[in-house]
Amino acid sequence: MRIILLGPPGAGKGTQARRLSESTGMKHLSTGDMLRSEIAAGSELGLMAKSFMDKGDLVPDETIIGMIEQQINDPAGVLLDGFPRTVVQAQALDAALEKAGSPVDKVVYMTVDVDELVTRLSSRAICESCQTPYNLQSDPPSKEGACDKCGGKVVVRADDQPEAIKNRIKVYEELTAPVVDYYRERGEVDEIAATGTPDEVFEKLTGVIGNN
Ligand code: AP5
Repeated sequence: MRIILLGPPGAGKGTQARRLSESTGMKHLSTGDMLRSEIAAGSELGLMAKSFMDKGDLVPDETIIGMIEQQINDPAGVLLDGFPRTVVQAQALDAALEKAGSPVDKVVYMTVDVDELVTRLSSRAICESCQTPYNLQSDPPSKEGACDKCGGKVVVRADDQPEAIKNRIKVYEELTAPVVDYYRERGEVDEIAATGTPDEVFEKLTGVIGNN
């Protein structure tokens, strides 16, 4: 099974994909997490990606497609979080899946209004090691600066600074919103309002996935 979670930065894609992965055993594939791991490892790819990510711009399509293509056929099924993010990436995914002979099963579009996105992103911190997200106001780690799950260091992302947040939302509207239309034209999109508590959003999400 392949599920795509689409939505603006801060919609809760990572939060929900982690939960869904824990409850279903499906593999969580987050291109943002993969890129941050490359940055942490100091790889050439990471160095290149960082120059785009810190400003809130997208990393070039060919880099992303090359990075994710080998992973989309995991037998456990995959939850795609943050990919595809351009129409070119969506077309590349289609081509790869056509080769594999099994299409996308579900595209879920998670909506949240812009003010709420800015509030969420401005108060977010993540674990540097396992990438678990926290909200420093409403859901901080139990011990300041340390991840509840793995004990890793909890830090604020460089792209959660005000200027980068503004640019990420603009880039989302220009380049990623058309991906929603790409799938919508094929009648493949289920939309959920990703507001309320994470538990409430999870219930809505499993509701639409269960209706597959
Ligand atoms: P990526 O890591 O994918 O960032 P993003 O899409 O901007 O998404 P976020 O991680 O900011 O938000 P999210 O929707 O996952 O929300 P989360 O669950 O964390 O990408 C980062 C960068 O990498 C990109 O800008 C780009 O440069 C590059 N990149 C990645 N993929 C790429 C691609 N395919 N092509 C090109 N470049 C790519 O939650 C956010 C906060 O809200 C957290 O604090 C969380 O605790 C809180 N929260 C979650 N749910 C709720 C709720 N229901 N109520 C209240 N708070 C909530």
